Amino acid sequence: MKKTLLAILFGSALVLGACGGKEKVKEENVNTSETAAVDTQQIIQSKCISCHGENLKGQGNFPDISKIGAKLSKKEILDVINNGKNGMPKGLITGDDAEAVAKWLSEQK
Ligand code: HEC
Repeated sequence: MKKTLLAILFGSALVLGACGGKEKVKEENVNTSETAAVDTQQIIQSKCISCHGENLKGQGNFPDISKIGAKLSKKEILDVINNGKNGMPKGLITGDDAEAVAKWLSEQK
């Protein structure tokens, strides 16, 4: 009888001991640092060359804008992007993307 009681106590102690152990808290380091830089070339490739042609050299009725910086300022280019112009659809790109592409284009002379 005495032995059984000890065994029960001992057993419980083991169980308690096992459960009382610290649980390992898994900390996941979520990497939130993203590159803020806008990839102008990527945007132009996906949004502009379908009309303005390879290297923006123009095709068919679509004008060559590969040296548009010689003709339009950054502000004027941004205006075309934001508001469209005849066959040029407005709002293809917006915000930082539009800003960055307009700046890049205005430097192509
Ligand atoms: C659906 C076809 C189409 C797409 C896509 C397009 N354009 Fe155009 N774009 C035109 C046409 C057509 C014109 C000529 C408008 C006019 O003056 O009659 C034009 C004109 C322009 C002009 C003015 C050129 C000038 O000599 O005044 C700029 C700047 C321009 N586009 C930039 C862009 C940029 C940047 C993109 C990509 C974000 C883009 N376009 C995508 C059709 C397009």
